[in-house]
Amino acid sequence: MRPDESKIIQLKDYRPSDFLIDRVELDVRLDPHATRVKATLTIRPNPEGRADAPLVLDGDELNLRSVSLDGRALPSGEYETGPQFLSISQPPRQAFTLEIETELDPTANTKLMGLYRSSGNYCTQCEADGFRRITYFLDRPDILSVYTTRIEADRDEAPVLLGNGNPVESGAIEGTNRHFAIWHDPHPKPSYLFALVGGRLGHVGKSFTTMSGRAVRLKVYVEPGKEDRAHYALDALERSMRWDERVFGREYDLDEFNIVAVSDFNMGAMENKGLNIFNDKYVLASPETATDADYANIEAIIAHEYFHNWSGNRVTCRDWFQLCLKEGLTVFRDQEFSSDERSRPVHRIAEVKTLRARQFAEDASPLAHPVRPQQYREINNFYTATVYEKGAEIVRMLKTIIGEGDFRRGMDLYFDRCDGTAATVENFLDAFATVTGRDLSHFARWYSQAGTPRVTIRSTYDEAAQTYRLDFAQATAPTPGQPSKEPMAIPVAIGLVAQDGSSLTATSERVSPQGVFMLDRAQDSLSFSGVTSRPVPSVFRDFSAPVRTSLDLTNDDLLVLLRHDTDAFNRWQAAQTVAMRLLIGLAERTSVPDGDFDRLAAALRTFLESDARRDPAFAALVLTLPNEADVAQEIGANVNPDAIHRARRELRRMIGTVCAEPLLQLYEELADQGPYSPDAASAGRRSLRNVSLDLLAAADARQGERRAQAQFETASNMTDRLASFGVLMTLPGEAREAAIAAFGRRYADEPLVLDKWFTLQASIQEDGTLDRVRRLMEHPAFSISNPNRVRSLVGSFAMLNPTQFNRADGQGYEFVADMVLRVDPLNPQLAARLLTAFGSWRIMEPERLERARSALRRIAQNASLSRDVGDIVQRSLE
Ligand code: ARG
Ligand code: ZN
Repeated sequence: MRPDESKIIQLKDYRPSDFLIDRVELDVRLDPHATRVKATLTIRPNPEGRADAPLVLDGDELNLRSVSLDGRALPSGEYETGPQFLSISQPPRQAFTLEIETELDPTANTKLMGLYRSSGNYCTQCEADGFRRITYFLDRPDILSVYTTRIEADRDEAPVLLGNGNPVESGAIEGTNRHFAIWHDPHPKPSYLFALVGGRLGHVGKSFTTMSGRAVRLKVYVEPGKEDRAHYALDALERSMRWDERVFGREYDLDEFNIVAVSDFNMGAMENKGLNIFNDKYVLASPETATDADYANIEAIIAHEYFHNWSGNRVTCRDWFQLCLKEGLTVFRDQEFSSDERSRPVHRIAEVKTLRARQFAEDASPLAHPVRPQQYREINNFYTATVYEKGAEIVRMLKTIIGEGDFRRGMDLYFDRCDGTAATVENFLDAFATVTGRDLSHFARWYSQAGTPRVTIRSTYDEAAQTYRLDFAQATAPTPGQPSKEPMAIPVAIGLVAQDGSSLTATSERVSPQGVFMLDRAQDSLSFSGVTSRPVPSVFRDFSAPVRTSLDLTNDDLLVLLRHDTDAFNRWQAAQTVAMRLLIGLAERTSVPDGDFDRLAAALRTFLESDARRDPAFAALVLTLPNEADVAQEIGANVNPDAIHRARRELRRMIGTVCAEPLLQLYEELADQGPYSPDAASAGRRSLRNVSLDLLAAADARQGERRAQAQFETASNMTDRLASFGVLMTLPGEAREAAIAAFGRRYADEPLVLDKWFTLQASIQEDGTLDRVRRLMEHPAFSISNPNRVRSLVGSFAMLNPTQFNRADGQGYEFVADMVLRVDPLNPQLAARLLTAFGSWRIMEPERLERARSALRRIAQNASLSRDVGDIVQRSLE
């Protein structure tokens, strides 16, 4: 009856639970080391389960105090138990009540799963399987129960007591210094959405009236004294609620919505019903301490967690293989929200940059997996860019294919049909198949086939016939467990641009009125008639599918797109493609014809002079070269990170030199105007100005240093201060070291700002950085047990510093391996995340590749690895 913990869980093995739990009553007496949890579970056999099955409840590191069934203390012969399970071989065959008492030590809980303490406050994290660290339970997402939670605590230690749902009652406990609060959540939910909080917290709040006129109290709780930094989050919450009513017709369904910021958190945030818990880095913001990027992240993550109330909570997942059902869909929803609140094309480019940097890299790595995996050893290792970001791209493609109206009708039908249930990807697609009458079975392959398809396109123009033909071919490289691949259903948004920029009215019957061609075979071709001159094709407009593209366009063709395409995404993409070609040429020391470089620089100069002011945020993106990791991915094998670093520095220098005049003019023109506002337009101006600062410094280090130093000293907000600090990091010398010291002193009491300081120092691409990082680990503000600190120092070194992590002598790998082994016993999830930095080891040149392999082997040889790290290291080596 003891469950096997090392086993691989398979999607095909899913079967309904043998028992259901209709009601959960929890009585939690908070204490720093001996918290008592009494769980009263109303259980009944599942009509869809096996008739004579034993009851096996999950547990994790639990300490059982007592168990009774229908009020009778169970004698030890009638059940079996251990820290990881509790089983009853002969449970009643009708509804019964099980009362379980456990004792926990929240202070000793360094895994940050289950009930733990963060800066003295009690909080919980239950997704994916942390509830079993609080009490024995059927800890799986298809067990939906109504929860009532009584929380009791010392009044001084935890004056604020929060639970899921609506507050029912609270009061003092006579004759003691303790008090209690009772919360009731009427919506049946899976255990992973359970949460409670107890602590000393301040808050900001406001009232919100829903579309049907119900009043909801909104509150954001933070460390006392930081309330003024919570207003932006509260504002983002209110805007998210309004947006979900307007765009998806979704209304909030409780009397309260609470958000709590905590400083020790493994992920970004968690959508617990009515009680979202956040990493404080995604709540706290002031102009002095947060950058424009921080504000944008806060807005997006507040929205994401709020949107889960429908996509995730009201409709949850049948099993963890369906994780993308809630995460991909909710990322899509938060992306749409941010696009509506900000600039749509600029946001789309940002989304694609993240997708390529994280998901394409994952797809090309030994950790590649389908958006809906077929199997896992440790589900916490599947909260990945593939499940989240590629999952969102699938929803976006679906919308592109069926159109806006049918997409909304399908969403309504999905919410309608599946409300209150634990659903599957099939349920989701069925709703769209019903409203459109389409067969979506080929499209569904996006969920099961891993890897990034590559689409190759060849063009032929026939001047005499005035026809233009595009020949498409698609292929996907093998990924672990999937040696051969099938063709995908790929929506290609397409248009033709004339060489002189005029619009072409060419037609093809295979292109929909919305401009979409469906490529669903391995090879296909598309012909346009009435084409009066040789056009430049603009394919995958707005990045209509998550694929890589090879196109037989010349750099001159691409520069026509940069100048004239009506699709902003492809204007940006054109500049990126040309820059990528030049970077690869420089890195591989194959000759880059001077003419190629001159034409890009000239095009950028024209763009700066004539276009940049129209949309500064877009201009900043056009001027930002592909990063070093992107270039490494594109090269794909035998990579030398030092050569790529030199190439990128060289191209920045050349562009900064040719464009110095317009860049300087922009830099001066866009100088700080008035008080800080985080809105997208203001942020765009800052970003263009700061990109200019960087390129100017790349062209002229001495002047650049002076300019950056001046900006660093006089900046009136964190965005400008950090940007100039970042530029100084690229310029070795006294000015840089002085800035590092000044920054450290100035923000000594601001952990979230010191994280940025750690990150930028860990990202310096110089030999001395590893020693610097080692020294910073001794800094009083660093802590090996705080995820934000570890990620900002060690994680940044591993993920944002390609030349130093991939040092030729292997010391970067050995250091990160040491850190993984040191963090693993404390916090396996954090350790496993760090370890994913090794994802690209196989594309390195042979010497580095061998050194990475030996660091990975050293980790793998360790006898006491967590399941999290064991799983990642094993798959990385396979
Ligand atoms: N559901 C959370 C989100 O909104 C992520 C929580 C994941 N936590 C974990 N321990 N795996 O994306
Ligand atoms: Zn989510």
